[in-house]
Amino acid sequence: MSKHVLITGATKGIGRACVDIFAQNNWRITAIARTADDLAALEAALPGASVITLAADLSTEAGVAAVPVLAYDAIILNAATFAPGQLLTGTPDAFTDLWALNVKGNHLMARRLLPALLAARQGHLLVVGSLGTDYWPAHLTAYVATKYALRGLFLGWQAELADTGIHTTLIAPGATLTASWEKEEPPADILPADYVAAAIFRAIQDQQTGRMVVT
Ligand SMILES: NC(=O)c1ccc[n+]([C@@H]2O[C@H](COP(=O)([O-])OP(=O)(O)OC[C@H]3O[C@@H](n4cnc5c(N)ncnc54)[C@H](OP(=O)(O)O)[C@@H]3O)[C@@H](O)[C@H]2O)c1
Repeated sequence: MSKHVLITGATKGIGRACVDIFAQNNWRITAIARTADDLAALEAALPGASVITLAADLSTEAGVAAVPVLAYDAIILNAATFAPGQLLTGTPDAFTDLWALNVKGNHLMARRLLPALLAARQGHLLVVGSLGTDYWPAHLTAYVATKYALRGLFLGWQAELADTGIHTTLIAPGATLTASWEKEEPPADILPADYVAAAIFRAIQDQQTGRMVVT
């Protein structure tokens, strides 16, 4: 039986590149995003692959509750909202907006999905953070604060899952060329999404744990 990975934010950018590399390596994939048309296009683009799709908004409790609970071999919590915004200014409040998915959604996904991995005493939880938590770009303080909160959650998961048989990895990519950059000027050294996806695949295949910066 081939291995099974759940990928959030699977229709674009880094998540989409992850779908490709896991499909190429014959993994079964559960792919989640909000937009049903994009999920249908994803399935159509991979006719020979084993892909189950779910349209769910993971910033809501109902969206998280719709996610199938299985003993996945790997869970990739990748979906996030990226938007400029400062903590002290701006209307609407970017931090409150971004918190719902980037922090609370991931926390609820972990609470929903990890008990099945614990019962199986195997699996890999991989979380996509950001290199931004190392240098706090001035116009992105709200986004980076959510990623720092996610880094805190990761440290908690890592501690609570120690010696359970479940591996934990936090991937912190530098700027990566995806739809996130549509409204921003990308830096010259921006990474391709498939480069980050290859690092994610290697981390899971080789059971690399801890925080990994990808630049
Ligand atoms: N791009 C970068 O420069 C960069 C750098 C460092 C870290 N990262 C991190 O890498 C990860 C992926 O970023 P990306 O740039 O590849 O993203 P992206 O291209 O903007 O794609 C986001 C994906 O998440 C889905 N999504 C968004 N909101 C969702 C929600 N509420 N519920 C479920 N799915 C949702 C989107 O589909 P729908 O819109 O259809 O839901 C899409 O599939 C994020 O965690 C990001 O913070 C990115």
